[in-house]
Amino acid sequence: MITVPGDKSISHRALLLSALARGESRLSGLLPGADCRSTASVLRALGASVPPLPPDGSEIRVTGVGPEGLRSPAERLDCGNSGTTARLLLGLLAGLPVEATLTGDESLRSRPMRRVTEPLGEMGAQFSEVGEPDRLPLIVKGGGLSSFSYRSTVASAQVKSALLLAGVTARVPVEIEEPGRSRDHSERMLRRMGCEVEEGGGPEEWRVRLTACPSTLDPLELHVPGDFSSAAFFLALGLLGGAGSRLRIANVGLNPTRTGLLDVFREMGGRIEVENLREAEDPSGEPAADLVAFPSELHGVTVAGDVIPRLIDEIPILGVVAARASGVTEVRDAEELRVKESDRIRVLAENLAGLGGDVEELPDGFRVKGPTGPLRGRIAVHHDHRIAMAFGVLGALPGHEVVVDDPAVADVSFPGFWTLLEACAGGAPTPGANQAP
Ligand code: S3P
Repeated sequence: MITVPGDKSISHRALLLSALARGESRLSGLLPGADCRSTASVLRALGASVPPLPPDGSEIRVTGVGPEGLRSPAERLDCGNSGTTARLLLGLLAGLPVEATLTGDESLRSRPMRRVTEPLGEMGAQFSEVGEPDRLPLIVKGGGLSSFSYRSTVASAQVKSALLLAGVTARVPVEIEEPGRSRDHSERMLRRMGCEVEEGGGPEEWRVRLTACPSTLDPLELHVPGDFSSAAFFLALGLLGGAGSRLRIANVGLNPTRTGLLDVFREMGGRIEVENLREAEDPSGEPAADLVAFPSELHGVTVAGDVIPRLIDEIPILGVVAARASGVTEVRDAEELRVKESDRIRVLAENLAGLGGDVEELPDGFRVKGPTGPLRGRIAVHHDHRIAMAFGVLGALPGHEVVVDDPAVADVSFPGFWTLLEACAGGAPTPGANQAP
């Protein structure tokens, strides 16, 4: 049995919202990866007291200072590689009378920010683009926001959460409509802290309304479950027969807005069992369970439409699994992949083709035909942790050889990934340990 580190999306939100609460929050299972360390460090720069994130996920106590306790930072806020840190922070700061400059690494500085700064600007916040249009670095001057109703063109939890956080810190109602339902961790956590959040809709439009928040948010007591997105790499390894007769992963978050890959893997013929399901006790909790993956004969499928937001971060590993499944797998409606940590459509297609895979890049996805002979070669990760780990799984399968050019990037979301992969794959050399000169 293995475990994977805490859920990245929930960990970011737990840190941000604990800082806004009044009193002591107790948080365990937080992801100690680089992305969440970025969130912790920007919160410290804003005046919140956030201890170091323990490598083993043990409990920390965050003493919230309330929105009024946060101050303009002396230095630039470096969000590292983390889009969630940058976009959620822009929302949180938009509602406060503070001024801050946000920046990030090369990958983050190439990602669009107007998807949050435009609606936040309409609410009343001010933004100046210091460098390229639509990119970090950005100066935000918050305060003076009005209530707001916004129709987003993308199903994005980062956009939705940025607006919700602006509503929380400015204490104004906010309504967001999105063209598909994105992950709902912010809504669940805000309810838990005393806010009123309503939601509803259908597969093609989802509406979320923050109607009221108490003047002080209740502190959180939270155990963050394992990240389904991290578990996905080991589900793939188990299904592809790279980890013996079964692979059990304990305590994985199973929020239904995140588990589209479970449905798709099963549709491909994958056997995955769910054991010890702990349902969320109320809409403000998060469900979790143990997952067991068995070696399976997989076949290609078409993946498109409203499942895409439910597996958006898992598409790199899905592409790799497709190369080992029989027949054609086609992913469509996933143009958002082009603005992730890398252009994941291009980077996935180029790397798979470079290893000898049969892949075609499409404007909004890709087509992969499998299985081809042994896949061998070196891949370029382009600062993208999920690309590195997806190809790492491929390289851990018997007969395949993949050298990952920058294995350390996995630390963004999954410290210890390469060691765990090596242990599960029965001690076979892994790309992280087998770096080319
Ligand atoms: C995230 C939302 C998703 C996801 C990202 C984490 C979040 O991004 O890809 O890894 O925690 O809100 P979008 O909201 O841009 O789809």
